[in-house]
Amino acid sequence: MSAQAQTRRLTATQIRARKGGDKLVCLTAYTAPVARLIDAECDVLLVGDSLAMVIYGFDSTLPVTLDMMIAHGAAVVRATGHALVTVDLPFGSYQESPEQAFRAAARVMAETGCGAVKLEGGEEMAETVAFLSRRGIPVMGHVGLTPQAVNTLGGYRSRGHKATERSKIVEDAVAVADAGAFALVVEGVAESLGRELTERVGVPTIGIGASSSCDGQILVTDDMLGLFAEFTPKFVKRYRELGAEIRAAARDYAEEVRAGRFPAPEHTYPGANPRR
Ligand code: KIV
Repeated sequence: MSAQAQTRRLTATQIRARKGGDKLVCLTAYTAPVARLIDAECDVLLVGDSLAMVIYGFDSTLPVTLDMMIAHGAAVVRATGHALVTVDLPFGSYQESPEQAFRAAARVMAETGCGAVKLEGGEEMAETVAFLSRRGIPVMGHVGLTPQAVNTLGGYRSRGHKATERSKIVEDAVAVADAGAFALVVEGVAESLGRELTERVGVPTIGIGASSSCDGQILVTDDMLGLFAEFTPKFVKRYRELGAEIRAAARDYAEEVRAGRFPAPEHTYPGANPRR
């Protein structure tokens, strides 16, 4: 990546300034080739811990390690030059204390070259968000349905349908934004709550299953490409069916190999046997 390309990369400060402005376009990215293809269309590329399921086949995000996030984060940064790359802090790497979070986030920033980290949680994480933000680490928050808390939430159901849960999510969002987060992912909440949160916090909300009233949207790239078809949540729109395309390509290849039609002469290096 040239120095010029690097200076054009969006920053957390620029993303924050987009509150109420042009919608923020965000997608997940885990690998260099896909990140390279989608970078120009995106404001934020999130190296999400959803890679646990999407790339590694785990059934939750909990088994992801800091080293895994760093390896994928570094690949995405190397391949891109436009979007702000934000890397998820994985489960267990930040919840214990602000100091533990700082050590994890500093490693992520230094070893990947990313521009920000994301962490999940509300009021209980506000002190940590402030601790990191004041020490040079831009933090994106994540409230509503927080997948790292699947075992205490009791599943991946959308949240905020009851008054007490709804006001707790509002308090969480306000606490994290006031603590210094530059943006807030809002996941899996009722439409009216997505709108209320967007009105109540002073930083951009980035919705995933949180309605079009958010300041931006994010989807898991593999979901919207039809690559991760095990389960499609209600909020996912599939823009392509690449899973079906890949299956068809593998079938065509297998047929041609079995029939001896591949490789054809145009895929073969010409040249006589010099020993003859
Ligand atoms: O890990 C992830 O991909 C995320 C998005 C779904 C927001 O946190």
